[in-house]
Amino acid sequence: MLLEGKTGLVMGVANKRSIAWGIANAVNKAGARLVLTYQNERLGENVQELAPSLNNPLLMQCDVGSDEQIQKLAARIGEEVGHLDFFVHALAFAPREALEGMYADTKREDFKTALDISAYSLVTVSKAILPLMKARNGAIVTLTYLGSERVVHNYNVMGVAKAALEASVRYLANDLGPHGVRVNAISAGPIKTLASSAVGGISNMIKLHSERAPLRKPVEIDEVGDAALFLVSPLSRGITGEVIFVDGGYHILGV
Ligand SMILES: NC(=O)c1ccc[n+]([C@@H]2O[C@H](COP(=O)([O-])OP(=O)(O)OC[C@H]3O[C@@H](n4cnc5c(N)ncnc54)[C@H](O)[C@@H]3O)[C@@H](O)[C@H]2O)c1
Repeated sequence: MLLEGKTGLVMGVANKRSIAWGIANAVNKAGARLVLTYQNERLGENVQELAPSLNNPLLMQCDVGSDEQIQKLAARIGEEVGHLDFFVHALAFAPREALEGMYADTKREDFKTALDISAYSLVTVSKAILPLMKARNGAIVTLTYLGSERVVHNYNVMGVAKAALEASVRYLANDLGPHGVRVNAISAGPIKTLASSAVGGISNMIKLHSERAPLRKPVEIDEVGDAALFLVSPLSRGITGEVIFVDGGYHILGV
């Protein structure tokens, strides 16, 4: 039981197809107690339905667009648990119209929203929960995608947000390392989820990926879950500031 006695915050479960759900299952199986957050009441109903299969998780609402909700979340975890050993950030958002057509057409408001929800949220939640994580050999993991460093058709402003997210991983790793907190990202291959359905042509991307990736199969949420388990566990205690690919090897390909 790699995470026996540990408590973790997992943000981003929307339904059973969510990457956050794959991660929640993997860390739960390894013995961790979880705090799961959901964005709004509608998604909260899904999380309440899923929660009984985990070991007595705490459920809390938190929209990362609200500083007030983030502060309340940290305060409630402080009161009800007192500490955190790990934090999984598996959330992102960009308006659907920004995820098709030309990147050059991105509207200022859509750019701000994508960067705020998908990248700044990692920074501000990490800061809010730092007092709960200090000196516990804690770990933070976020989710990114290859579109941060290569042009992926229709991924557009989300690619720019993921580039900011990955740079934030490095800066946060440097800030939080002295407090005993590691910060890493998993770059997952394409998986059909609520969020990815907003990206134009996602089904075709998944098909192409399965045909071309060295492992010749689609990426599954439990594979991402096991990599996250490694990154929040002591097995990865020497690793921080990294982006680890869980994509069946797709990113190594040239033409
Ligand atoms: N699915 C893929 O192909 C893929 C590939 C690589 C990386 N990722 C990343 O994985 C992460 C999880 O996405 P997913 O694919 O599992 O989709 P998902 O739709 O299951 O999860 C996205 C989550 O983001 C949450 N969210 C959006 N706006 C929010 C806000 N304002 N406040 C709080 N929560 C908010 C949603 O409620 C949802 O739970 C995202 O960062 C995504 O970019 C996904």
